[in-house]
Amino acid sequence: MDRLFSPGAASANTGGFDTLFTALSILSILIVLLVGTLIVVFSVRFRKGSDVPRHRVPALHAREFEIGWTIVTAFVAVFIFWWAAGYRITDDKVPADALEIHVEAKQWMWKTQHPSGAREINALHVPRGHPVVLRMSSQDVIHSFYVPAFRLKQDVVPGRISTLWFEPTETGTYPIECAEYCGTDHARMLGEVTVMEPELYAEWSAAQPEADTLARQGAALFTAQGCSGCHAAASSVHAPPLEGVYGRPVALADGRTVLADEAYIRDSILMPRRDVVAGYEPIMPTNFDEILSLGEIAALTAYIRELGGGLPPDARVLRSPAMETER
Ligand code: CUA
Repeated sequence: MDRLFSPGAASANTGGFDTLFTALSILSILIVLLVGTLIVVFSVRFRKGSDVPRHRVPALHAREFEIGWTIVTAFVAVFIFWWAAGYRITDDKVPADALEIHVEAKQWMWKTQHPSGAREINALHVPRGHPVVLRMSSQDVIHSFYVPAFRLKQDVVPGRISTLWFEPTETGTYPIECAEYCGTDHARMLGEVTVMEPELYAEWSAAQPEADTLARQGAALFTAQGCSGCHAAASSVHAPPLEGVYGRPVALADGRTVLADEAYIRDSILMPRRDVVAGYEPIMPTNFDEILSLGEIAALTAYIRELGGGLPPDARVLRSPAMETER
């Protein structure tokens, strides 16, 4: 039945989506059949010249009937809302060992970047059976990242980072589509996800053209974008040093303490006035969201991570629940 409406599912946790979709389709078909049948029946029965009572006013004030159908349909509507709203294809908790891939959307292509620094255009290679988290942003207008086989669709919005994670279960290639009208070539903003066996993914990854690692790109940006002008030890500007900060708790000016993880570093670049470090003035320019792409922020984060810290790199997406609620 599901195959009738959608392609075969190729990632974990898609069963609930297909059940919901099938149920809604069946319900819609039943309603169309009911209404259509009544139209036909009444058209024939009350056609011109047919011998039926037309002047008898039916008992329209059947109160029980009115109340009954209103309650039933309202209940059905609320039930569908509850079912659909409570249902998520993946929950919000991204697994800590997820492979983090950055996705940049622009008119009209998808650019992806792997932790190794490897880049792809309109393509995404991922290992089977391993959670993958996408951090997505747009360079221009709103796009929507859509992989029907994974039952995933997420808006990709300029100036914001959308997160999506999935665990592919079947090897093969699956279409990526853009599901938000974004201009002339919207319909051609297509790509392909290739799910490979983990060994083959490792081979593929190693065979990619010698790309600079993210951290190396980040080091270059750190100088090119002027970060080093203030954050370097020798600088005369009073800015927090970044050596060893990664993975450590940071005391903020307003008394809170946060963990310097990937999200904190990203937010501090994009919104430097929000979490000001205790003992420092909020003097960092606030326009880096216009200057840096998401990929560049990922590179800078990788560089700061490499400057040392209290946690191993693979703990990078861990954050304590207490801190999550605190923010
Ligand atoms: Cu991008 Cu439609």
